[in-house]
Amino acid sequence: MNRLKQWFEERLGLSLFLEFGKKQVEKPVPPHAGTYAFTLGTAALVLFMTQVGSGILLALNYSSSMKEAYASVARITYELPSGWLIRSFHAWGAHLMVFVLLLHMLRVFWFGAYKKPRELTWVFGALLLLITMTFGFTGYLLPMDQVSYWGTKVATQVAMGLPVVGDVPGRLLRGGDQISDATLSRFFILHVLLLPASVAGLVAAHLFLVRRLGITPKTSVTEEQQVGYENMMKKEGVPFSHHLFREFTTVTVVLGLAVTLAVVFPSGLGAIATPDQTPEGVKPEWYFLPVYQILKYIPDRLAGLLVVNFGVALFVFLPFLDRNPQRAPSRRRLMMAAAAAGLLFTLALGVLGELSERTMGGVHFDMNGVPHRVTPK
Ligand code: HEM
Repeated sequence: MNRLKQWFEERLGLSLFLEFGKKQVEKPVPPHAGTYAFTLGTAALVLFMTQVGSGILLALNYSSSMKEAYASVARITYELPSGWLIRSFHAWGAHLMVFVLLLHMLRVFWFGAYKKPRELTWVFGALLLLITMTFGFTGYLLPMDQVSYWGTKVATQVAMGLPVVGDVPGRLLRGGDQISDATLSRFFILHVLLLPASVAGLVAAHLFLVRRLGITPKTSVTEEQQVGYENMMKKEGVPFSHHLFREFTTVTVVLGLAVTLAVVFPSGLGAIATPDQTPEGVKPEWYFLPVYQILKYIPDRLAGLLVVNFGVALFVFLPFLDRNPQRAPSRRRLMMAAAAAGLLFTLALGVLGELSERTMGGVHFDMNGVPHRVTPK
């Protein structure tokens, strides 16, 4: 055993990697990082890895042509052993990943961890959230059932007929005027190649910065600068290894939840896509509902897109807009109130989007989410 170890050591210099790993595990973090709220980044990372794993298994049996896509997904779901489970796990994993990322972002916001010198850590993270949502958008089309076809048609229509650029963005997405083989190929390549590669690169950059700059202390930006992070951690830091049990517990719970949801609510497959028959009640994924709803309230398409992009830019560039050096929530009252208002507004739009064009308990919600009593016939 020892000789084998030495054989590898002489060729690969493994002790350097072991040394590096040990240093990472022993690196001190602030004591307040010893709570479950600080394990959400790791949970997102593990979810991403399991999405890649389950995605590879699905891709082995998926066919990305308009003619065969639906049949290949039907085969995965109804014929291949455990195909339904892997497909459902992948679908629920995607929902959970967005949800976990939103919680991770809220925790980072609460602790003012996006402030100097961690502005880029936030920007990379924000891009990761946007890309994770784009995974959902591109994955939606792949089964090629009615809902995926029409959902994608409506969503890509938003990028058509714009002032100045005309149909260019929409045609670029669709690979032509209509949803066709070209659209499916584009979405598939984005979903299995370009987006995972971008996430891998951004995660590496994000984690490099997290390790380089350390977990944000509770002090203000100026105090951290004056005393120096290393000095602070020498005094009050706790080795990261003390938190490994918590990280492990969160990951187990999140993966357990994904499997449970997959078993209890397995992914179905609707009727095959028929381009000349619009189904009722086509809605985007829950995390796109606020955008879907706000675009309905702003009839001018360009104005709508500008408003949405303005909101996204505010979110991505937040660290450069909020110049207050304080990190404690009690000393950032204005920012906390603005964030709470933004959050409530987004949630309200999401709820209205979900209710819109539905009838429940004798009440019909129109496309704007306004309720109307339905008179019995
Ligand atoms: C795939 C996506 C992501 C992964 C894998 C990831 C992973 C991590 C990990 C492991 C940490 C260490 C502490 C912790 O877990 O709380 C962390 C910290 C951080 N993350 Fe993320 N993250 C992601 C997305 C995001 C998003 C969406 C944002 C915000 C928009 C963000 C902003 C930050 C910031 C600013 C820190 C530093 C926190 C501190 O110093 O206290 N991350 N991330």
